[in-house]
Amino acid sequence: MKAIAFSGSPRKNGNTDILARHTLKAIEEEGLDTELIRVTDLNIKPCNACKVCKTKETCPIKDDLFPLYNKMKEADAIIFATPVYFGSATPEIKALMDRAGYIAYWHRTFERKVGGPLVVGGRSGHNFTVAQIAFWYFILGGIVPGSIDWNVAFGNDKGEVEKDKDGLETAWTFGKNVAWLVKKLKA
Ligand SMILES: Cc1cc2nc3c(=O)[nH]c(=O)nc-3n(C[C@H](O)[C@H](O)[C@H](O)COP(=O)(O)O)c2cc1C
Repeated sequence: MKAIAFSGSPRKNGNTDILARHTLKAIEEEGLDTELIRVTDLNIKPCNACKVCKTKETCPIKDDLFPLYNKMKEADAIIFATPVYFGSATPEIKALMDRAGYIAYWHRTFERKVGGPLVVGGRSGHNFTVAQIAFWYFILGGIVPGSIDWNVAFGNDKGEVEKDKDGLETAWTFGKNVAWLVKKLKA
């Protein structure tokens, strides 16, 4: 059983990476393998709407997308962590969601994957970003467990999210619920 978290923050070891690692630790404690992948360290171009993926389970754009798509296919849980940028997920994480999601949409390869969003921002726009990511799961047949609040945390400067105890507890409980659900589905 495996859970992957994708971080869409350009800032290495920033608030998004911290929050994603925190959730993965909660999942790991329950016996699942975990991996954090920083999307912004890779080259993932936006979708160009060629629609090759409609007939073939592939993407002709030559970049880092397809190995990630295969990893997502193999994983039991997929988590997208992003900072809020102008009330939205970052373009890097959105490119991954669009590209991998469109292949999965035509071939129904992400059905019953467990997962959800992790969102960190300084002030506002969190809930829209949570919804933006949650909708990705809903159209692809994914299953999104809840937590003790929506999966948001607050922080601006690098590392500031560590001070948001409620945000950390929400991310932690989300991780526990992801692991619980994966194990139930696998039982
Ligand atoms: C281009 C840009 C746009 C941002 N827009 C928002 C926003 O709409 N709402 C918000 O609360 N924070 C916004 N922020 C602040 C970041 O979400 C915040 O600093 C976050 O903690 C960054 O996460 P990181 O440490 O992983 O980079 C923005 C930051 C940048 C660089």
